[in-house]
Amino acid sequence: MHVGILGGTGPAGRGLGARLAAAGIEVTLGSRERARAEAAAAELVAAWPDRGLRVSGHENAGAAAAELVVLATPFEGALATVAPLRRALADKVVVSMVSALVRVGREIQAVSLPRGSVAATVAAALPSARVAAAFHHLPAEDLGALEERLVADVLVCADDAEAKEVTMGLIERVDGLRALDAGRLSQAGPIEAFTAVCIALNVRYKARTYLRVGGL
Ligand SMILES: NC(=O)c1ccc[n+]([C@@H]2O[C@H](COP(=O)([O-])OP(=O)(O)OC[C@H]3O[C@@H](n4cnc5c(N)ncnc54)[C@H](OP(=O)(O)O)[C@@H]3O)[C@@H](O)[C@H]2O)c1
Repeated sequence: MHVGILGGTGPAGRGLGARLAAAGIEVTLGSRERARAEAAAAELVAAWPDRGLRVSGHENAGAAAAELVVLATPFEGALATVAPLRRALADKVVVSMVSALVRVGREIQAVSLPRGSVAATVAAALPSARVAAAFHHLPAEDLGALEERLVADVLVCADDAEAKEVTMGLIERVDGLRALDAGRLSQAGPIEAFTAVCIALNVRYKARTYLRVGGL
């Protein structure tokens, strides 16, 4: 499988890209500036010389040509990133890992959106794409620390059954990650908003939290 990551030069995109590439998946990091993505990709490959990571860098349009596309920009840039790629993303599985968050004083709070979530907002902007939401609660630093096994649950939701299945299959290819079917895209709002709770826990406990769901 070939995964493209829009906004792949940030900590989240690079971390996820590294973790997917370590699982044998070909990854293209996307950027508004091709040179930035190429540099980020080269850095990852050089950081793990023994792993033979297949990571390249391209403009976001190049990353959008991949088989499955992950959106990893900040919320503020999400629509501006996907809107010009509408054609390239038609019929593709597009996985949003974006949460809409705002800093209020010392606190990070979730922002309420008219459509209920970033993923639903992206889905409305990309009516021909098959949008899923996943990866929100995986800390970027741990994703990128390939020397450590990351054992975590990943909540996945989508309206399109195949998009959900493909996304869950991708997650399950990563040793240590368990994909959990969290339902339809209407669940993306609470999933995204819970990221603010994770960040509050990280601050309170000086930690990097991730999700493990009991009772399943
Ligand atoms: N950090 C985490 O631990 C983590 C974990 C899970 C999910 N997430 C989510 O993943 C997303 C990315 O997080 P991050 O920490 O990697 O963010 P980031 O570093 O702020 O942004 C990621 C990349 O997006 C591009 N970008 C920035 N502003 C943009 C804009 N206005 N329009 C278009 N592109 C823009 C930049 O790439 P170029 O300048 O190269 O184009 C940047 O390197 C967020 O939505 C976050 O909620 C983060």
